[in-house]
Amino acid sequence: MKHPIIIAPSLLAANFSNLLKDIQTVSQCGVQWLHYDIMDGHFVPNISFGEPILASLAKKHDLFNDVHLMISNPQQYALSFIKAGANLITFHLEAKEEAKDIISLIEMIKKQEVKVGLSIKPSTPLHKVFPYLALIDVLLIMTVEPGFGGQAFMDHCLGKVKEASEYITKHKLNTMIEVDGGINEVTAKQCIDAGANILVAGSFIFKSDDRCARIRQLKHE
Ligand code: DX5
Ligand code: ZN
Repeated sequence: MKHPIIIAPSLLAANFSNLLKDIQTVSQCGVQWLHYDIMDGHFVPNISFGEPILASLAKKHDLFNDVHLMISNPQQYALSFIKAGANLITFHLEAKEEAKDIISLIEMIKKQEVKVGLSIKPSTPLHKVFPYLALIDVLLIMTVEPGFGGQAFMDHCLGKVKEASEYITKHKLNTMIEVDGGINEVTAKQCIDAGANILVAGSFIFKSDDRCARIRQLKHE
């Protein structure tokens, strides 16, 4: 099944002293998703923000809240992010060692009637997610090392996007493919051509004065 192209601006690159205003500037360009990067200073060497920020922002806008947990203990925090307004919870495969723990967290999130995603770092081979692809809504393929915005896109990740897309088609799955990190008008096109339909972009959108133009460039409209 072909999914529509979705642009998910990442708040990590927004102005933290005026998040709501920045959200309004992208919302008026017609985006429907917003990407929240949650970092614990342990799974990744950086700390961003937590549930209270999501909870206070989610009340003020109608966008779909795409929550990317870059944390070591996703099972401990998933529920509170859902209560705070998450519509999609994505956690990292690398945060859990046991397949049974990954499956039980996927099931726990689904029970709350929100969407669930699984993410892999650039160095994690794609085949590690194969056992879970039929259970999840979104596969998030990181295209930079998670932890910081503003990094350069890692080209070798495109091969994983293509391989994932072929696997999903071959097995008649409905899983969407999201890419995150170093997305600009050039890498967005490469990712779409390889089979991704959800594009996360922080710097490319928020560091520009014409955010609507940047969003149109990403969608290749
Ligand atoms: C990186 C985050 C990304 C980041 C992308 O760990 O997951 O969402 O904000 O930032 P840009 O688009 O600046 O590479
Ligand atoms: Zn992210």
